[in-house]
Amino acid sequence: MVVLVTGGKGQLGQALQSIAGNYPQIELYLASSAEADIANPESLEAIFNKIQPQFCINAAAYTTVDKAESEPEKAYEINVTGAKNLAQACHKFGTTLLHISTDFVFDGQQQTPYTETDATNPQGVYGLTKWQGEQAIAAVFDQYYIVRTSWLYSAFGHNFMKTMLRVAAERPSLNVVNDQIGTPTEATTLADALLQMIRSGKQEYGIYHYSNEGVASWYDFAAEIFAVNGVKIELNAIPTAAYPTPAKRPKYSVLDKTKIKSVFGIQIPDWQTALKQA
Ligand SMILES: NC(=O)c1ccc[n+]([C@@H]2O[C@H](COP(=O)([O-])OP(=O)(O)OC[C@H]3O[C@@H](n4cnc5c(N)ncnc54)[C@H](OP(=O)(O)O)[C@@H]3O)[C@@H](O)[C@H]2O)c1
Repeated sequence: MVVLVTGGKGQLGQALQSIAGNYPQIELYLASSAEADIANPESLEAIFNKIQPQFCINAAAYTTVDKAESEPEKAYEINVTGAKNLAQACHKFGTTLLHISTDFVFDGQQQTPYTETDATNPQGVYGLTKWQGEQAIAAVFDQYYIVRTSWLYSAFGHNFMKTMLRVAAERPSLNVVNDQIGTPTEATTLADALLQMIRSGKQEYGIYHYSNEGVASWYDFAAEIFAVNGVKIELNAIPTAAYPTPAKRPKYSVLDKTKIKSVFGIQIPDWQTALKQA
């Protein structure tokens, strides 16, 4: 079974590569943005022709949340037009698309975990373009899984865990917000869920939520990162109002994972356990 991974050199792409050996029936083809540019239909046509994938995992995205506020066209080109191009290529080649989306499609006003059918209301350009990307795929065909995830981190690429560890090595104290609530997701656990979905052979297409289990603030996450790594630092909890960012973020974005667990039988670790194994 050939699985094309677009954005194959990013964090999720590298996480997929790191666990590919556990799925001998799956041949992963990790394509860089140079080899498979999702913003360029001809580039996609060439790679689909070359490897004829049964599945495509779209790990490519414009992911810099704050920068997107000043580069909305670029974010749109990759997160919306790119997603549409990929859906069209998948439709043409009979390929099932697994597209990754985000908890930032929600506005964070809820106080209970978001299900796949809860109303979306993105608060910034990144979340808006990711949501429009979901819509663009659904307008092309039905043979897709959209997997929304949250607070992705790992030993690979750029992420909050690596930033915390780097910054802690440079200064004696750190302020982290404690009034944005969500769930960290270790990227290899997401990668594993995606490959389990593919291996299942099921065709229950649609939107799914996946994050690790449990609930945390960014402050809780930072504290646990330092505890697990034996880092001594003065860590101060601050409100979002004391740390303004260009993009507004949801106050609460815990995802309800009932659907992915019941349809695919996927077991999800709690975020503290996943962090210890990262
Ligand atoms: N990171 C998070 O906290 C988070 C949270 C929720 C959801 N997500 C979603 O999870 C997915 C994976 O995120 P990630 O953290 O792995 O992102 P990442 O590390 O930033 O990787 C994104 C990849 O996309 C590639 N890319 C950009 N433009 C492209 C194009 N036109 N064609 C092909 N590839 C292109 C980049 O390649 P170049 O470097 O060569 O441009 C990069 O390798 C994304 O859909 C993201 O929206 C992430």
